Amino acid sequence: MIDAYLREKRTLVEQTLDQHLPPADTAPSIIHEAMRYAVLGGGKRVRPILAIAAAEACGADVTPLLPSFAALELIHTYSLVHDDLPALDDDDLRRGRKTTHVVYGEAMGILAGDALLTEAFSWLAKPIEGLDPARQLRAVALVARAVDSTGMIGGQVADLEAEGAKPTREALEFIHRNKTGRLITASVLLGGTLGGANDRQLLVLERYGVALGLAFQIVDDLLDQEESSATLGKTAGKDVAQGKLTYPALMGVDAARAELASLLATALNNAGMIAGPLNYLGDIARFICDRRS
Ligand code: IPE
Ligand code: IPE
Ligand code: MG
Ligand code: MG
Ligand code: MG
Repeated sequence: MIDAYLREKRTLVEQTLDQHLPPADTAPSIIHEAMRYAVLGGGKRVRPILAIAAAEACGADVTPLLPSFAALELIHTYSLVHDDLPALDDDDLRRGRKTTHVVYGEAMGILAGDALLTEAFSWLAKPIEGLDPARQLRAVALVARAVDSTGMIGGQVADLEAEGAKPTREALEFIHRNKTGRLITASVLLGGTLGGANDRQLLVLERYGVALGLAFQIVDDLLDQEESSATLGKTAGKDVAQGKLTYPALMGVDAARAELASLLATALNNAGMIAGPLNYLGDIARFICDRRS
């Protein structure tokens, strides 16, 4: 059931991305080729799918909202392109292919990331027919806040600063809740906000997103340690090699798994509180915690 749902929504997201990104031959073509290479080369598309599921759970027709939801994937992809740069994690493999800066050069990697972030806000700001503009403005602002220097970027900064520093639980939570958790939470809230959620539903969606966002990065840490590069489509074993502060590094695999189970329980509990007829939020949470790539 969930596999078919994810497959169907992934296709919808990929069609939206392909249709709305500038064609590869748009001048200057090098940057548009690089943007399309980064975005259209695989990936689970978890963030737009979470937004779709949240909007559906609130009873919305998601068709007019798809470009806004696909914008989340542009932001996520930009964060990966920059995360892989030599100055950050210095990776040459992503989604089973060479990283964008390896193919197009470091300067184009930086600029493609910049362009994807800008493109995302242009998609988010495009008027949506039938939607209250004040509601849409709130939605754009919540995404911006989530990825600013106190959100996703703040988490990336702390992630770099923690390399080789004294490991603490406080620093670890700050990194994970921000570098990964904030965009995941914002995805769920974007879906709810554009999908017409009321205040009570938004509160429940936020609790779901916060728990799932932290769970997502704990799984990422475990997989880095437990899976192969071939399965992950990115270099395995990087966290230990680079002295990253991760859940398994700080507390061991068993304690990290226990933490994960407790976060999943919180996510499921809150997913069940949105009483729409179409609610895949619980199944998506299980998928995220059980995934092997
Ligand atoms: C990887 O994200 C980076 C993190 C924020 C943990 P994903 O696991 O969602 O990567 P893709 O998009 O499926 O490649
Ligand atoms: C990446 O975290 C988080 C962001 C890109 C914001 P990681 O560095 O753990 O992601 P991977 O393991 O390279 O995908
Ligand atoms: Mg990183
Ligand atoms: Mg990385
Ligand atoms: Mg990782």
